[in-house]
Amino acid sequence: MELTVIVPTYNEAPNIAELVRRAEAACSGVDAEIVFVDDSRDHTPDVIRTTAARSTVPVRLIHRDDPVGGLGGAVIEGVRSSQAVYCLVMDGDLQHPPEMIPVVLDRLRASDAEVVVASRYGGNGGDAGGLANGTRRLVSSGATLLSRTLFPRRLEHCSDPMTGFFGFRRSAVEVEQLRPTGFKILLEILCRHRLRVLEVPFVFGARFAGESKATLTEGLRFLRQLAGLRFGRIASFGMVGGIGAVLNLLIMGALVALGVHYVVAAIVAAEITILTNFLMQERMVFRAERQGAGSLRRRFLHSAGFNNVDAAARLPLLWLLVEFAGVPSLLAQAGTLVGAFLLRYLYHSRVVYAD
Ligand code: GDD
Ligand code: MN
Repeated sequence: MELTVIVPTYNEAPNIAELVRRAEAACSGVDAEIVFVDDSRDHTPDVIRTTAARSTVPVRLIHRDDPVGGLGGAVIEGVRSSQAVYCLVMDGDLQHPPEMIPVVLDRLRASDAEVVVASRYGGNGGDAGGLANGTRRLVSSGATLLSRTLFPRRLEHCSDPMTGFFGFRRSAVEVEQLRPTGFKILLEILCRHRLRVLEVPFVFGARFAGESKATLTEGLRFLRQLAGLRFGRIASFGMVGGIGAVLNLLIMGALVALGVHYVVAAIVAAEITILTNFLMQERMVFRAERQGAGSLRRRFLHSAGFNNVDAAARLPLLWLLVEFAGVPSLLAQAGTLVGAFLLRYLYHSRVVYAD
């Protein structure tokens, strides 16, 4: 199959038939399917089943009785279920014109882009009453500006990271990397990978029927998502460091108990934890960055090199601070530990795993 069209739905019964009708027409000649990932509490699933029976395009329904992650979680579920070369995500209320499906698909086929974003802000795109009022418009452009400020590189080629209308090459997205807590799933995809992005303009229409499910809670969820995307990495880097420190003490304690001299024990413990920290970082912190960051050997040499210099330089630095700057020894030690942590994070994110 070439294309899976993923449509998250929450109580969209009156929109289903019209959406399928227009998507069917738009997808003629394409080996495509439509997947509704539905969390509805009304009869939407029945409408989807009846519509599916009549449709010329295969229609699948994933109904979730116990939905995780709302809109974002639903999209992730759809991506996970897809075996197609490309996935395309769109809303179920016809604010995203199905006639754009082949435009996005052609762009994916004809370029080396891994993601094609249907944007309201690029080219002759726009908003034809999609964002119902001035407040929504302001919130949306504020959220766009904030996201692009926090992720200047990842969102460099995406003028509309808030859009829910985009296509991508299935193999370019590691679905297990995505957090269902992310309301804005495109943001999640772009910020957790390093992908080539292209845009096509489109006009965000008004809802066909029913009403928007956007709430203040979703807005707050979005802020939490942004914070997680931006600061989650330094937090997990810190966690890895913490686990390493505990391991270090355990190894050192065991060696000393076996009669090894404490300096030798400290060096052995440091070298072992430099290795285990590296392995944890690779899996838990910089998983997405690994691909673009050279060979495993290069990453290890840089990381271990930095950590050895760091470990060796801290003691003389402590001595200088205490003896020549008159800093109390515990304060000086705390300062060097915090400073070393920040430097280590910067070095790893900017050099070892630079993208
Ligand atoms: N499965 C599932 N679960 N679908 C949901 C949920 C949920 O909890 N909440 C909303 N949806 C579905 C809706 O049924 C609709 O198909 C789509 O997600 C978008 O929801 P709307 O209620 O239409 O929200 P909106 O128009 O205010 O917000 C949309 O606009 C943004 C652009 O401003 C969102 O779709 C964004 O994705 C889009 O980028
Ligand atoms: Mn909508």
